[in-house]
Amino acid sequence: MYEIGQAEIDAVAKVIHSGRLMRDFGGQGGWCERFEAALARKVGVKYALTTCSGTTAIIAGLLGLGVGPGDEVIVPAYTFMATALAPLAVGAVPIIAEVDETLAIDPADVERKITRYTKAILPVHMIGRACDMSAIMRIARRHRLFVVEDACQAVGGSYRGRRLCAIGHAGAYSFNYYKNISCGEGGAVLTDRRSVYERALIYHDGALTLYTSAKRPRETLFAGSKVRFTEVQGAIMFEQLKRLDGILARLRARQSAMHEVLEKSSRFALSPSNDPAGDCGSSLPLLFATAGEALAFMAAHEKRVGMMRPYDTGKHCYFRWEPILKKRGSHHPRLNPYNLARRKIEYSKDMCPRSLDILARTIALSVPYQATVKQARDVARKML
Ligand SMILES: Cc1ncc(COP(=O)(O)O)c(C=O)c1O
Repeated sequence: MYEIGQAEIDAVAKVIHSGRLMRDFGGQGGWCERFEAALARKVGVKYALTTCSGTTAIIAGLLGLGVGPGDEVIVPAYTFMATALAPLAVGAVPIIAEVDETLAIDPADVERKITRYTKAILPVHMIGRACDMSAIMRIARRHRLFVVEDACQAVGGSYRGRRLCAIGHAGAYSFNYYKNISCGEGGAVLTDRRSVYERALIYHDGALTLYTSAKRPRETLFAGSKVRFTEVQGAIMFEQLKRLDGILARLRARQSAMHEVLEKSSRFALSPSNDPAGDCGSSLPLLFATAGEALAFMAAHEKRVGMMRPYDTGKHCYFRWEPILKKRGSHHPRLNPYNLARRKIEYSKDMCPRSLDILARTIALSVPYQATVKQARDVARKML
């Protein structure tokens, strides 16, 4: 979490004094609705719906587009496991594609992984950096696939002037503690399609049981879940959203100062970016010639600034996605999407060798938010 303070405290106090903590009571004009309207406006989409997490926002996007049993959804080898769990939650199976040096899904491998059962591509804008959305949308058009953007780690970022989540058919943000703006846990699904919004609405509220201020949907009701926001979360996020562009500007200024210094290094290269201008600025990945050099750099400098090797992070590399690699796709075998797939799905720990190589040779620096630009530059100089 980068910034939170009096504005959020005052907003939450208002909710508590009103006694209307559930979004149904906030109703039209309540905090959740005001936040959703402001978020949709900022991102440039027609609809935004809050959910209790980024994971449920991705699920809402997929089921909103009609993805279900027998379908395949292409996900990157490098992402938080939740991205790959989301297709399973709607009955589909994740197909894992390589990432390239940008740390985002490799469009060429996406195309190789398409089968006649592929229904959607789930590109992930990792560590604040956009995927090659032009290539992905071109592939999607060519093969008539849906695209659901996972921008959980890149809230507010953009690609060629358009905010992430406004490019695909649907997109998901996370507001958990580690994200650009946060209320502890939370998410939102964004889309231009009324049908997707309405199906997400039905899913997120049982079958539209409580949220009576929502307009009666045209879409048929189905059994959903209950993954809604509260007015407390809505109030915090309404204030957090006002801070978003300022947070990104501060991150970008520090990242840019570090970038200018580190691009002179002959020991590593700065990882290529699909759109430097749209990068959230939260991270600065460096690419080394070998994994050994990456590890030696980290050992020498990790006390100066936060850094991580993507290869080592908990559940972000496909080879650590145990329930997926073991094809345990549900709590019950008869609901297990792998038993509903239209072909045999095979995974192995070494199935994406290029990703493994790149992730082992990359070190991602955290951009120090609290530092001044000069301090950020000085930290970078010490790493040369
Ligand atoms: C890339 C990515 N996708 C999805 C998620 C899931 O978001 P949440 O934790 O809000 O469910 C995360 C969260 O860390 C993430 O980093």
